[in-house]
Amino acid sequence: MVRALGVRVPAQEAEPTRRRLIEMDVLRQDLKVARDGGDVVFPVLESCGPMLTTITHDFEPRDERAVRYADLLGWHEEEAVAVPRAFEHVGDIAVLKIPEELWPRRAEVGEALRRFRRVRAVFHDGGVVGPYRVRALERIAGDGPSATTIQESGMTLHIDMARAYFSPRLADERARVAAQVQPGERLVDLFGGVAPLGILAARAGALVDSVDINPDAVKLARENIVANGVAERVQVHEGDARVVAATLQPAHHVAMNLPHAAKDFLAVAAPLVLPGGLLHHHEILRDEDVEGAAAAIVAELRGHGRLAELAAMRHVRNYSAGTSHYALDFRLT
Ligand SMILES: C[S@@+](CC[C@H](N)C(=O)[O-])C[C@H]1O[C@@H](n2cnc3c(N)ncnc32)[C@H](O)[C@@H]1O
Repeated sequence: MVRALGVRVPAQEAEPTRRRLIEMDVLRQDLKVARDGGDVVFPVLESCGPMLTTITHDFEPRDERAVRYADLLGWHEEEAVAVPRAFEHVGDIAVLKIPEELWPRRAEVGEALRRFRRVRAVFHDGGVVGPYRVRALERIAGDGPSATTIQESGMTLHIDMARAYFSPRLADERARVAAQVQPGERLVDLFGGVAPLGILAARAGALVDSVDINPDAVKLARENIVANGVAERVQVHEGDARVVAATLQPAHHVAMNLPHAAKDFLAVAAPLVLPGGLLHHHEILRDEDVEGAAAAIVAELRGHGRLAELAAMRHVRNYSAGTSHYALDFRLT
C-alpha cells in the first residue's frame, strides 16, 4: 500500500469527480482508485481546492505505469517543459494543443499520449473556428477520423468535434439543467449541437425542440436521438435560432448555450419561456462582472416585456485569463 493524497466522494458522485480530476490533470495513474464503505477515493497528485476535499489515504499501486504521458517521451526535463499537461480524452481519441515550439516533434508527443491513454488517434486542436464553433483538428498520431462515440451521463453520443461543436467539459452543466426538468415539461435548446441536453431532458420526461444552424450538428443530433431511444420526444430543427424560434411552442426551459453571443438572442428567447419557466443563459464574463451582467439581462428582458429574476448562477469553467464561462438561470414571470 502507498499512502498518498486522495479525493473522497460518495459513489454516486464518482463519475463527475473522475472527469473533473482528469480535466484538472491531477488523477494519478500509478495508484488504483480505492473504495471505502460507500465512498470512492481517487489518488491525486496535489491538493484539489475547497470544492474537492483532499485527504490522505492508502492506495494499492498499479502495475508499473508512467504517471504522465510526458514520461513516455524519455526527454530531458528542459525539453519536456513545453509538453502540454492538459488534453481531452474523448471516446477513442485524444485532443491537445501542441505549442509552436513543439510542432516539429508533434508526432512523438502524439504517440506518447496515444500509448499512455490507449486511444486510436491523437489530434492537435487548432482552436474553435467559425460560427459553428467547430475545432480545427489535425491528426498527429494513430489513424482514422476525428469522429468518435462517447458515453456521457448514460447516453451514447456520436460526435465529431471537427464538424460539430461538442465539449465533454460541459457534461456537468448539461446534467445540472436536465436535473431541473420535470416530466411533461417542454425544453427548447436554441443552440442544441449534437443534442446532448435534449436527450437528457427527454429522458427526464420532457418534450424537446433542439435547434442548430450547422447541418452536420443536426445530422449527428438526429443519429443521437435515435441511438438513445428518444426520437419521439425530441424534434431536431436545422436553421438560425432567430428564424426557427418563431415556429416553436413556448417551453418551461429555454437553453442558450452560445456563451459568446447568447445575449444577442434574448429578444428571440424571451417570448419562448412560459410564465414561471427558466431561461438558461450562458456568457463569458469576468468574475467581477457577473452580477452586473445578470442585472443587465434582467433589464433587457423587461424591455422585451418579461419580468425576470436570477434563480441560479454557476461558474462552468475557466475560459481565459480573468474570464470564465458562466451559466445564469433566470426565472421569468
Ligand atoms: C457552444 S455550442 C452548444 C452545443 C450544445 N448546447 C452542447 O451542449 O453541446 C453552440 C452551437 O450553436 C450553434 N449555433 C451558432 N449560431 C447559431 C444560430 N444563429 N442559430 C442556431 N444555432 C447556432 C453552433 O452550430 C453550435 O453547435
